[in-house]
Amino acid sequence: MTDASLTLLHPFETGSLEVPGDGPILILNATETAVRGLKADEVTAVQDFRPDYLRLERAGAHVLPEPAGEGYAMALVLCGRHRALNEHWLAEANARVRPSGLVVVAGSKTDGIDSLKKRVAAQTELLGQASKHHGKVFWFSGNGTPTDALPSVEVEGGFRTVPGLFSHDRIDAGSQLLAEHIPDDLFGAVADLGAGWGYLSVAVTQKCRKVKRIDLFEASFAAARSAEANMKALAPGVESRTRWFDVTSEDAKALYDAIVMNPPFHTGRKGDPDIGIAMIEAAKQLLKPGGKLLMVANSHLPYEAALKSFSQSRELVRTGGFKVLGARK
Ligand SMILES: C[S@@+](CC[C@H](N)C(=O)[O-])C[C@H]1O[C@@H](n2cnc3c(N)ncnc32)[C@H](O)[C@@H]1O
Repeated sequence: MTDASLTLLHPFETGSLEVPGDGPILILNATETAVRGLKADEVTAVQDFRPDYLRLERAGAHVLPEPAGEGYAMALVLCGRHRALNEHWLAEANARVRPSGLVVVAGSKTDGIDSLKKRVAAQTELLGQASKHHGKVFWFSGNGTPTDALPSVEVEGGFRTVPGLFSHDRIDAGSQLLAEHIPDDLFGAVADLGAGWGYLSVAVTQKCRKVKRIDLFEASFAAARSAEANMKALAPGVESRTRWFDVTSEDAKALYDAIVMNPPFHTGRKGDPDIGIAMIEAAKQLLKPGGKLLMVANSHLPYEAALKSFSQSRELVRTGGFKVLGARK
């Protein structure tokens, strides 16, 4: 995630904007930096990504996984990289402020904040703007117009997703490769770490008839909700549980016969194998002795050393920029 928190705080620091003292404030896609820096009494922070949600909660913030409530004195939006999601957050902010409550929007230049500002300015009069910290912030008067939920998208295979999720409009090529190489003799209890909108879990239930239960662990609240609905619609015969969960910091209190995963490989624009390595370590903790891990990764990412701590590990296939790795605890 590119973080425009300092850009968002800039007009409050220079005195161009003041935090209203007579009502609650909403921050969408909130960060700890933004919540702390705003120095407001009554802030509702919204954060979909569980590791960031937990961080905010630990810092004492009032935090929700999705927007709720209305009549906010001001709503702030920290944009990310996804155009449709940014526009949806703006509409949510506009819908939830009291009449004439300000909507303040910040984003980094590399995430397209300039074009978002132009689109907003074509519809609404901007009351102010500033550029700072490689980002842009602008604000306008909200009008409380209600907004709809994000429109759902249908993906091949009968899956339903929403914009903003990983590979929300198509099956990821890496995940598809992993699905093709999952052995059909997996059995018992299976976990899907970083389950996204549920593609791998559905593939496991369709291919491995001896699997009795599958637990989906996913850090994005919106993705977890899509995954739960997809499992219900596409794998109704298999017991499953979808958990909004940070695999790298929370204790699942369960053990599995097999784990499948396509770990995330970036937090910002750069590839970052540390998250995948943390997820391999989490998978090892969650496997029963002899349990199997099957994962896919971009072929350049160095996961082999982390897999050496398993009793066996090997590459099952390498093609199209991906590799499928298997390991036994
Ligand atoms: C590369 S995507 C794979 C999604 C899905 N398994 C698929 O194959 O389409 C990785 C997923 O891991 C999730 N994720 C990232 N960090 C996580 C964490 N700490 N705990 C659980 N899930 C996480 C992301 O939200 C994302 O949905």
